[in-house]
Amino acid sequence: MVRGERPRQTRCNESAKSDRHSVCLALFTATRQHGIIRLMEQQILEIDHAGWHIGAANDEWIAALEAGKVLYFPRLAFTLTEKERRFLTPDIRDPKTRNISLDAKGRLKGALGDAASQAEVAAMIGRFRMQAQSLIHSLLPRYASQKVPVGDTDALRLAPTSYRPSKVETRTQSWRADDRRLHIDAFPSRPNYGERILRVFTNVNPDGIPRVWRVGEPFEVVARHFLPRVKPYSSWQAHLLSVLRVTKSLRSEYDHLMLQLHDGMKSDLDYQQDAHQVTMPFPAGSVWVCFSDQTSHAVMSGQYMLEQTFHLPAARQYDVDSSPLAILTRLTGRTLA
Ligand code: SIN
Ligand code: FE
Repeated sequence: MVRGERPRQTRCNESAKSDRHSVCLALFTATRQHGIIRLMEQQILEIDHAGWHIGAANDEWIAALEAGKVLYFPRLAFTLTEKERRFLTPDIRDPKTRNISLDAKGRLKGALGDAASQAEVAAMIGRFRMQAQSLIHSLLPRYASQKVPVGDTDALRLAPTSYRPSKVETRTQSWRADDRRLHIDAFPSRPNYGERILRVFTNVNPDGIPRVWRVGEPFEVVARHFLPRVKPYSSWQAHLLSVLRVTKSLRSEYDHLMLQLHDGMKSDLDYQQDAHQVTMPFPAGSVWVCFSDQTSHAVMSGQYMLEQTFHLPAARQYDVDSSPLAILTRLTGRTLA
C-alpha cells in the first residue's frame, strides 16, 4: 500500500525559499515522469540473496544503502533452534527494560529466567550478531577493512545487539519516544558528531506476522523541509547539558540539528500523514538493513525482532558526501561537528 501518493504541492507553494522549491519541483517532475509509486518504491531495494555472506560486494547495493535506502533481503532468515523457540514470548523481557540486549562484552541485559536459560538467550542473540557481522563485512568490505600505513583497520564499532519480543502496537510512550511516527534516529543523551548508525533487522515472528514499517522520503528532502524551522544551536546550552550530565558528551551543532529533525518530524502530525512514504510489511523470515540516522522510518506493528547496530565514522563511507553530516554541512554552509 502506498500512502501520500499526491505530490506535495501545497508545501511547495507555502515555501518562499528557492532551495526548498527546487526540491519540490524535482520531486514533482519525478512524479510526472515515473509516478510517485515508482519514486517511493526506490527507497527499498530488494535483494534476492539467501545467505549471511555476500560472495562479491555489489556497487549498486552499496550506493543504495549510502543513499539512505533500505536493503531488503526477503529470502534471508535468522533461524531459531527448536529449543530457542520457547524464548518467543514477551514474558522473558524484564518489564523494567524496553528490550533484551547483549552488550559488546557479551553481557545479557533485560532478560528474565534462570542462569541456564539466560545463557541460551545470550547464545541465540550472539549467533544473530555473528551472522549480522558476516553480512555487513561482506556487503560493505571497505568499512571493515581498509589499508592504512600499518595493516588494516576495522572502522565498524559494534553496539549492543537487541531482541525485541514485545508487540509494537500496544506500546505506550511519549510522542518523542514513539517510533510509530516517521523519524530519523537521533538520541538526546548520546551526541555522535556525525558517526553513522547502521542497523540490521530480522523478523523472527513464529506466526508469520510481518513487521510493518513506513519508509519516508530521502534525508535531504527531510532536511530541506525542516531546517528552515529549527531552533538555532546554542553552545552555552550544550555546555550546560553536558555539565548537568543530560548528555554524555558535548552536544555538537550536528547533534542538535539531527535532534531537531527527529523532533520536528515526530511532532508534526500533518507531516506524518502527508509526507511521501511507503508502507512496507517485512515478512517473518526476512532481513533488512539501513542507515537509521538517514532513512526516514516508523514501525507500525509486529512482534519478535532482532536488531544489530554498528557505528561507522562518516569518513569511512564509500561516498562521504552522502552522509547526513555532509548533507547538513552543505545545506547550512557551516562546520557542524
Ligand atoms: C526504530 O528503529 O525506530 C524501530 C524499529 C523497529 O522496532 O522495527
Ligand atoms: Fe528508529
